[in-house]
Amino acid sequence: MGLKGVILAGGLGKRLYPLTKITNKHLLPVYGKPMIYYPIQTLVDAGIEDILIVTGGMHAGEFLRLLGNGREFGLRHINYTYQEGEGGIADALKLAEYFADNDKIVVMLGDNIIQKNIKDAADEFRRQPRGAKILIKKAADPERFGVCEFKGERISSIEEKPKKPKSDYAVTGIYMYDHQVFDIVRGLKPSKRGELEITDVNNAYLKKGELTYNILKGWWTDAGTFESLLKANNLAAKKSASFPSPPTGERAG
Ligand code: G1P
Repeated sequence: MGLKGVILAGGLGKRLYPLTKITNKHLLPVYGKPMIYYPIQTLVDAGIEDILIVTGGMHAGEFLRLLGNGREFGLRHINYTYQEGEGGIADALKLAEYFADNDKIVVMLGDNIIQKNIKDAADEFRRQPRGAKILIKKAADPERFGVCEFKGERISSIEEKPKKPKSDYAVTGIYMYDHQVFDIVRGLKPSKRGELEITDVNNAYLKKGELTYNILKGWWTDAGTFESLLKANNLAAKKSASFPSPPTGERAG
């Protein structure tokens, strides 16, 4: 059974307004590339060739124009689906059920950018008989994220954007799920902010005793606020200076 990739690239990007007034957040530049290039490359580097992009809103068509069949990434085909409305991350995930077709999936938020790769974690998850795996990372500002509470080495709960974080470990926007995720999502109720929360999905796996985690190596950032978008640009610039990317073949001019 294969491992497939799902990139969530919808949303209104309200925290980046007016940058997102006339485009989708995931099309904004992060140093030399549109933001969505980074998560696609992360999945491709983990050996994932079947990728679904979930987007929505006014600018969904631009993804097709930008990415086509994914030739720049060595892909032969990219799958696309359209999210109507704004129901949160877990709601967007519902649209991946038909694509997943009972296979395991790696879900990556389109605004998460990492320095290294997730190949080892993906390989471990390929071997994991069932359940889910999350990638966590120490953060200076954990209250902006889902935050792990630990009992010894074990995660005992995850809190979404807690005022008083119970550890420094944030849950990154990279999640690995088996087919049970779609039943879990169907059972969710909207949170106080009116969204189906991905943290509730992870807590459901935790309750079953089926959630594993890895600590992500290298830096990680999201890019959904002015500060984090600037940080993402600076980190991507530094990374590109130390590992120049190979020529992509197709350039204009
Ligand atoms: C979302 C999740 C949060 C996670 C974060 C990672 O937050 O809700 O649990 O830690 O992504 O980027 P949001 O981007 O909606 O603030």
